[in-house]
Amino acid sequence: MKLWGGNYSGDPDKDFWEFNRSFPFDRRLVAEEIAASRAYVRALGRCGAIKADEADRLDGALERLAQQVQADPACLEMDAEDVHSFVETRLTEAVGDLAGQAHLGRSRNEQSVTGLRLWLRRTTDRLRDAVARLVEALAAQGQSGADAVMPGYTHTRAAEPITFGHLAAAHAWALVRDHERLGDARRRANVLPLGSGALAGTALPIDREALARDLGFDQVSPNALDAVMDRDFAAEFTFACAQLQTHLARLAEDLIWLSGPEYGFFALPESFTTGSSLMPQKKNPDALELVRGKAARVDGDLVRLLALMKGLPAGYQKDLQEDKEAVFDAADTAGASVVVMTGVVAGLGLNRDVMRRAAGREDLMAAGLAVALAREGMPFRKAHGLVGSLVAEAQKTGSTLREVAARVLPAHSPGVAARLESVFDPDQAVRSRSAPGGTAPEAVRQSLAAAADRVRRP
Ligand code: ARG
Repeated sequence: MKLWGGNYSGDPDKDFWEFNRSFPFDRRLVAEEIAASRAYVRALGRCGAIKADEADRLDGALERLAQQVQADPACLEMDAEDVHSFVETRLTEAVGDLAGQAHLGRSRNEQSVTGLRLWLRRTTDRLRDAVARLVEALAAQGQSGADAVMPGYTHTRAAEPITFGHLAAAHAWALVRDHERLGDARRRANVLPLGSGALAGTALPIDREALARDLGFDQVSPNALDAVMDRDFAAEFTFACAQLQTHLARLAEDLIWLSGPEYGFFALPESFTTGSSLMPQKKNPDALELVRGKAARVDGDLVRLLALMKGLPAGYQKDLQEDKEAVFDAADTAGASVVVMTGVVAGLGLNRDVMRRAAGREDLMAAGLAVALAREGMPFRKAHGLVGSLVAEAQKTGSTLREVAARVLPAHSPGVAARLESVFDPDQAVRSRSAPGGTAPEAVRQSLAAAADRVRRP
């Protein structure tokens, strides 16, 4: 059933009709479309725009339609123009001409954005829960490796010893912010557009505040024209997904390179890897590589939405129908990636001995040595230069930094020279970073507990 055409003399071009249809993708909004329609007919009944018993009949028929759609999703395969015409067609089959009254004063322009907002609200809640599970998995792994010493890297060169918990907490906090960002986006999505008409507002005495409450919206949109053209709530959600996917990609990258045989710090759960069709020895980190690769895809979704909006004049334009697939794709991709990443993190094994051996490399203690000298009174730049010369000397003579330090430092700082043992102990090194946010095991445990706590808040 077409919702328009009274002023047309013929049918649309066949190719154009297919081109124009959004039902192949906006049928995902069918539950929201029906929920919004039910609330709308109840609002029409309350304000007397339709009779109370008509409102009841429409509401009941829509409720049954929702049940049918849930029981038999195959019924969504029909050749409708969009989700709105699908619902109206099915409602007409159920109640005849009365179905038209469900659309009294209502425009698809406001319907499509109402459905998308409702869908985003529900999807955001699910995505936030999934992110919370991942933060908890990282926190649990981080707690068990809170004292597992490993090298920390800058520029992919070993820099200073850290603990595994410190690395886990770094990624966990990024995800905590994503969790909060999605919550912020949800607040701006949870605004009712319905009651805006096509652009000018509704001429019916609908109580929009009551309609908002009925649908669980926090506010009503304050301008009807803005309400039908605004998609920044969708762009904002998609940005939150893109940023989340970027964080997942960075976590994936760390797990990929540090689990490779040349490093061997982590053992990936086998069930998240795949083999090679040629090289029998391989267990490739495909799950993580896909999470990383899909960041490009979610970035694309965001750019697609921003580009879609930028040249549009005020009001609804059909261009806006292009919003939904980008939003769906971002939500699906980020949602699936978070779940896969949670499985990888939960199944991660730590090769503590390998990590510790790598962290014990003496040059990682160079900065610690310079700080120790400065704390005994040597100006820090001088200490930095002196340790630099010790490193060069060690390289030149093929001795270890510690041997050179033992030779040279008594003349400069007998105090430091006397405790080289502890200066070069990576466990001591991490324990000394005990200020909040540092890599000391106790600080890391607190940080991880705080991260897990933050995502338990609503
Ligand atoms: N299917 C459209 C969309 O998703 C809604 C239809 C609005 N069409 C119109 N001609 N006013 O944006």
